[in-house]
Amino acid sequence: MDIVNYYNWRYATKKFNSKKKVAPSDLELIKEAVRLAPSSYGLQLFKVIIIEDQELKEKLVGSSYNQNQIIDCSHLFVFCNYTKVLERDIDLFINTKSKVNKHPVNELQGYGSFLKNNLLQKEPKETSIWTTNQVYIALAHLMTACATLQIDSCPIEGFKADDYNAILDLNNRHMNAAVIAAVGYRSDSDLTQEQKKVRKSSSLLFETI
Ligand SMILES: Cc1cc2nc3c(=O)[nH]c(=O)nc-3n(C[C@H](O)[C@H](O)[C@H](O)COP(=O)(O)O)c2cc1C
Repeated sequence: MDIVNYYNWRYATKKFNSKKKVAPSDLELIKEAVRLAPSSYGLQLFKVIIIEDQELKEKLVGSSYNQNQIIDCSHLFVFCNYTKVLERDIDLFINTKSKVNKHPVNELQGYGSFLKNNLLQKEPKETSIWTTNQVYIALAHLMTACATLQIDSCPIEGFKADDYNAILDLNNRHMNAAVIAAVGYRSDSDLTQEQKKVRKSSSLLFETI
């Protein structure tokens, strides 16, 4: 299949087959796609919580406007953006970069200071908007990776972030549930899969200058 076929195959799944679970090996591939997603400066200022516990999913469905994908999916990915950038986030990046590229850490300290000067002073709101943007790129990677594995997904913004933050104890960790993705396998009875894609034409969407 070429890439466009995968994009056509994927749709925002409304009804999952609750009996079919994603295999651990596929789950690792999906996680790797998310891990390899690009982010601003490469800092990855987010965490992805993967929920497979059925009781917890049932606890969250009410805070998700009773969207059944939450309980019927195999795994629920909660993309949490950092609401605050800490010095240790930048130190972790610099130390990892030094180790991975075998580059003396002292030679990277200037770049670390540049990042700290730029990022630690940001207003909380500005930080949150910026880190949330990164999370959507990771979400897109997840959806495409799933499609290539013939695994279904549904991106979901229809949930109460404050409830998720409380239930998953995210505030204390300077995190916020930004967007979620239900992952699993479509139910044969999900009629949405038969609908054609509704998209703008290329000539409307693109402008070449
Ligand atoms: C960021 C985002 C949030 C979305 N939130 C929901 C949601 O809460 N519930 C839902 O059923 N679909 C949700 N969708 C799915 C969209 O409605 C769907 O992607 C769009 O209608 C295009 O259809 P397709 O993905 O099936 O091609 C969301 C999609 C995106 C990208």
